[in-house]
Amino acid sequence: MESRFREQVAIVTGASSGIGRAAALRFAREGARLAICANRNVDGLEQTRRAVEDAGAECLALKVDVRERPAIDTFVQSTLERYGTVDILVNNAGTAQFVPFAHIDDNEYERVMDTNVRSVFYFCQAVLPTMKTNNRGKIVNVTSVMGEVAAQGQSIYNASKGAAKVLTQAIAVDVSGYNINVNAVAPGMVVTNLTERMLANEAMQKWFTSRIPQRRIGQPDEIAGAVAFLCSPDAAYVHGATLVVDGGMLCTRDSE
Ligand SMILES: NC(=O)c1ccc[n+]([C@@H]2O[C@H](COP(=O)([O-])OP(=O)(O)OC[C@H]3O[C@@H](n4cnc5c(N)ncnc54)[C@H](O)[C@@H]3O)[C@@H](O)[C@H]2O)c1
Repeated sequence: MESRFREQVAIVTGASSGIGRAAALRFAREGARLAICANRNVDGLEQTRRAVEDAGAECLALKVDVRERPAIDTFVQSTLERYGTVDILVNNAGTAQFVPFAHIDDNEYERVMDTNVRSVFYFCQAVLPTMKTNNRGKIVNVTSVMGEVAAQGQSIYNASKGAAKVLTQAIAVDVSGYNINVNAVAPGMVVTNLTERMLANEAMQKWFTSRIPQRRIGQPDEIAGAVAFLCSPDAAYVHGATLVVDGGMLCTRDSE
């Protein structure tokens, strides 16, 4: 396979499963050195670390809550101490929400907004000084098609992913003049822990599939491919963009 990320250092958050694990493996197979984190599923994080090392790449894996600035700063500092630089940041860690708007309390609001938006704010602030000094860097924030349109019972998730999208644009503008690309990938429906319960329901799976022009649910590696593209030289002029990867879901209201 082509080694687009040889010798580069990539941070991937939320890498204990799903899209984050797939992205970490992509970078590993294409020559990068990895720093990965997650706060839940430490066993999963360890499995990803082993898979990255089996792919021949170095890997630093730490338990980090992406809502906590001190933990993030320590993680980025550890990455810098181990590798000397950071070239790529993928803000992938995220959480879902399925509570009707009327029943969302302050704790739920903060849990979702802090995990999906505050994390982007903290992580970008932590890596940008290094990227600016290097005059080089790639940041990809994983948003969602649910940041483009709304769905019943997902109001704060919708708001958080919409905020992460516009924050992506704002940071892209703010780093003007540096050779740093800041973009987002907005996945549609993908088979991961986040959607496992929903997709285990056959009727639900059929309903979603009927609304996707490609007539299938996506796989984590298909999102990882888009993340890797945005971090590659081929995307040098892509900046402040949100790449929707959803099998056509947002294109239509048709269903079978
Ligand atoms: N699966 C989908 O259909 C889908 C669709 C659109 C967007 N997304 C987004 O993709 C991203 C990855 O999700 P996934 O589908 O791979 O789910 P997943 O549950 O497999 O992975 C989520 C990851 O985020 C980590 N995480 C959650 N809260 C955290 C916190 N406070 N601190 C540190 N890590 C934390 C988890 O430990 C895990 O590693 C999320 O941002 C999600 O919103 C997923």
